[in-house]
Amino acid sequence: MQLGWARAGKMRLVLLTLALCSSLEGRENSFTINSIHMESLPGWIVPNGWNVTLQCIVDISTTSQVKPQHELLFYKDDVLFYNVSSMESTESYFIPQARVYDSGTYKCTVILNNKEKTTAEFQLSVKGVPSPRVTVDKKEAIEGGIVTVNCSVPEEKPPIHFTIEKFELNTKSIKLKKEKTSRSQNFLILEFPVEEQDHILVFRCQARIISGIHVETSELTRSDLVTVRTSFSIPKFYISPAGVITEGDQLHIRCTIQVTHLAMESPEIIIQKDKAIVANSRHSNEAVYSVMAMVEHNGNYTCKVESSRIAKVSSIVVNITELFSKPKLESSSTRLDQGESLNLSCSIPGAPPVNFTIQKGDTIVSHTPNFTKIASAWDSGTYTCTGAIGKVVKTSSPVQITVCEMLSTPKISHDAKSEIIKGQTIEISCQSINGTSPISYHLLKVNNILESRTTNSNDPVVFKDNPTKDTEYQCIADNCHSHIEMFSNVLRVKVIAPVDEVTLSILLNNMVESGEDITLRCSVNEGSGPITYRFYREKENKHFYQTTVNDTEVFWSKTQASKEQEGQYYCIAFNRANRAKHFPQSNVLTVRVFLAPWKKGLIAVVVIGVIIAALIVGAKCYFLRKAKAKQMPVEMSRTAAPLLNSNEMSDPNTEVNSHYGYNDDVGNHAMKPTNENKEPLTSDVEYTEVEVTPAEPHRALGTKGTETVYSEIRKACPDFVENRYSRTEGSLDGT
Ligand SMILES: *[C@@H]1O[C@H](CO)[C@@H](O)[C@H](O)[C@H]1NC(C)=O
Ligand SMILES: *[C@@H]1O[C@H](CO)[C@@H](O)[C@H](O)[C@H]1NC(C)=O
Ligand SMILES: *[C@@H]1O[C@H](CO)[C@@H](O)[C@H](O)[C@H]1NC(C)=O
Ligand SMILES: *[C@@H]1O[C@H](CO)[C@@H](O)[C@H](O)[C@H]1NC(C)=O
Ligand SMILES: *[C@@H]1O[C@H](CO)[C@@H](O)[C@H](O)[C@H]1NC(C)=O
Ligand SMILES: *[C@@H]1O[C@H](CO)[C@@H](O)[C@H](O)[C@H]1NC(C)=O
Ligand SMILES: *[C@@H]1O[C@H](CO)[C@@H](O)[C@H](O)[C@H]1NC(C)=O
Ligand SMILES: *[C@@H]1O[C@H](CO)[C@@H](O)[C@H](O)[C@H]1NC(C)=O
Ligand SMILES: *[C@@H]1O[C@H](CO)[C@@H](O)[C@H](O)[C@H]1NC(C)=O
Repeated sequence: MQLGWARAGKMRLVLLTLALCSSLEGRENSFTINSIHMESLPGWIVPNGWNVTLQCIVDISTTSQVKPQHELLFYKDDVLFYNVSSMESTESYFIPQARVYDSGTYKCTVILNNKEKTTAEFQLSVKGVPSPRVTVDKKEAIEGGIVTVNCSVPEEKPPIHFTIEKFELNTKSIKLKKEKTSRSQNFLILEFPVEEQDHILVFRCQARIISGIHVETSELTRSDLVTVRTSFSIPKFYISPAGVITEGDQLHIRCTIQVTHLAMESPEIIIQKDKAIVANSRHSNEAVYSVMAMVEHNGNYTCKVESSRIAKVSSIVVNITELFSKPKLESSSTRLDQGESLNLSCSIPGAPPVNFTIQKGDTIVSHTPNFTKIASAWDSGTYTCTGAIGKVVKTSSPVQITVCEMLSTPKISHDAKSEIIKGQTIEISCQSINGTSPISYHLLKVNNILESRTTNSNDPVVFKDNPTKDTEYQCIADNCHSHIEMFSNVLRVKVIAPVDEVTLSILLNNMVESGEDITLRCSVNEGSGPITYRFYREKENKHFYQTTVNDTEVFWSKTQASKEQEGQYYCIAFNRANRAKHFPQSNVLTVRVFLAPWKKGLIAVVVIGVIIAALIVGAKCYFLRKAKAKQMPVEMSRTAAPLLNSNEMSDPNTEVNSHYGYNDDVGNHAMKPTNENKEPLTSDVEYTEVEVTPAEPHRALGTKGTETVYSEIRKACPDFVENRYSRTEGSLDGT
């Protein structure tokens, strides 16, 4: 034995050496992979559950006697799942009972030394899904309960899409269908409610698995039967009294159910008429509605029995015979004047033996079907009548009666304490103390309706207005009374307008010749009289003239103006509507007084005469002295000649004309001569005036007629004529 072991050991050593030698020799040997191929048994498309053998077949050529050792690698969807080292040309991989999840893309690779070759990709398709298993958690269910269904495909791997149907065995109708994908388990558990129409239930399940782009579908598998028990019966109505029900009968509407001992909770019973709940009960098997029968109780009654999930309904129509119809209340009129007769009468068709009452609101006013009285304002209201036979009482529709009290004459008044100033708002109130409201008031303003208002009381209504001139207001009031509208007295409102826009002007020219008249006119654009006017000279605080008149203008005159009247003037005007300290003031008017041209001429003549006289005197003195100095008189006459010539040059007319050239400066030039004007030179005046008049160009133009009159009268009485003259000219200017 020991020897045998040793011999065997020597044999192994020899074999090992041989193998080593051959492998060393193999280095020189040549290998090549001719081809590699993959096959599936029984095929690449297999029914679900079949055994599948995947084969990898290689063809290698070699110079060596010994077949070379190579490695074979199996891939599914590019993932290595099996490798083997072999010297065989065919290697297999066995898949027992192939499932959908075995479907995929397969390939194999051979590696020989450094050489490597891979097959093409082969698609393995596993067709069909094993029938799912369906289990239910109970064989007997109660209405309103739940059945839990477990559908599974234990052979397959998730995700699996399950469809479970609730199926009524007798009617073969699908009552509910639910679908869901189970992503992490190969089963799905769903709950199905048990409803009132369910009797014998079966659940069916189908599984779907996605394989690549295809969907593999299983058969429909049925569960065991589930028998449904009712928790309570359909409700039943009992009506009493049986047969014809007449108004006045005691009506009972009963709704009952039967509850099985299996029921988890006692259901609620509700009796409804239309939408209204008329009776209900929760912890009993019946609900009762009791009422005295009236035709209003006719209708469709519904009994609903509800537990949390189950509701059972039944309905019944109740028909009640009418005892007598609803009374009708009539009135001769619904709107009456106070003092008229109110007649109400109540009637029922067929005139059954009914006890009548008539009510106003809640108060009975009559126990007979008729009610008559003389209407007063308090009789307004809502009337009804009732008819009664025993306990059956019926009420008519209400009738609204309005009794109108005549309006008292409306009173009109306004809130202003004294006069109304233009621009102010006044409130005019109208009120009829007596009379039924609503009262509508119209405010008339000069016979036109200004505004209308309706009030629901006898309190005054207030209208607002903004009168701009004297106005008359009147109220008209009207209400439901048949009498025509009532008119108030006429309210006369006096509106005073404050003074506005004061203007000061001067008649004629604001260049006034000394000795002529100054007439100032202060006028206002608008203002109610009496208006007070005040005239001021600028820089004087106190007015020099004040008057109050009922006119929009006043005049102030000063005769024989002198330099003293020169200055700036303004006026103010106001009435009682103007606010003190804000009296309107006029423009400022500048008045200038100048010396008459003929007076200037006269002064010049006088001055020149004096000079000439002085010269003559001087010359005489000179000659006298010369004579004394024994000189020739001829020489003296020579020196006098040029002096006389110069006198001729300064002719009075020339002087006057030059003054006209400086017309604007007349005031200044006139300053000095004014004083000299007062010198008594009256005898010379008449003479000079005749000389000057034609030389006045502007007067000579249009006023020649006046001129003639003037010059004629002038000679008679100088002072008087001068006044007349200025007035005439003023009126001519004014036109
Ligand atoms: C599949 O293979 C198993 C052994 O893994 C065997 O018992 C079974 O009989 C085979 N089924 C078919 C249909 O060949
Ligand atoms: C083949 O399998 C063996 C062990 O099962 C492992 O050691 C070897 O690395 C595998 N070869 C390849 C190429 O993955
Ligand atoms: C559903 O059924 C499957 C197989 O029939 C089982 O494996 C699983 O545990 C069941 N699930 C439940 C919640 O009972
Ligand atoms: C009574 O009302 C129910 C529920 O509204 C309705 O189903 C039924 O048809 C009605 N019956 C009659 C006679 O109108
Ligand atoms: C009620 O009953 C009367 C007879 O009693 C009948 O004429 C009428 O049509 C019925 N009304 C309904 C709604 O059934
Ligand atoms: C009530 O008035 C109606 C007419 O309005 C009259 O026919 C009837 O006789 C009156 N009834 C009574 C009880 O006064
Ligand atoms: C009317 O009223 C009287 C007194 O209240 C009563 O005796 C009578 O029975 C009533 N009649 C009817 C029809 O109700
Ligand atoms: C208003 O009515 C009362 C009572 O009816 C009466 O005394 C009063 O004189 C009436 N006033 C006017 C203004 O009519
Ligand atoms: C203005 O007129 C009123 C009446 O119109 C008169 O009473 C008043 O005396 C007048 N005043 C003047 C100043 O004339």
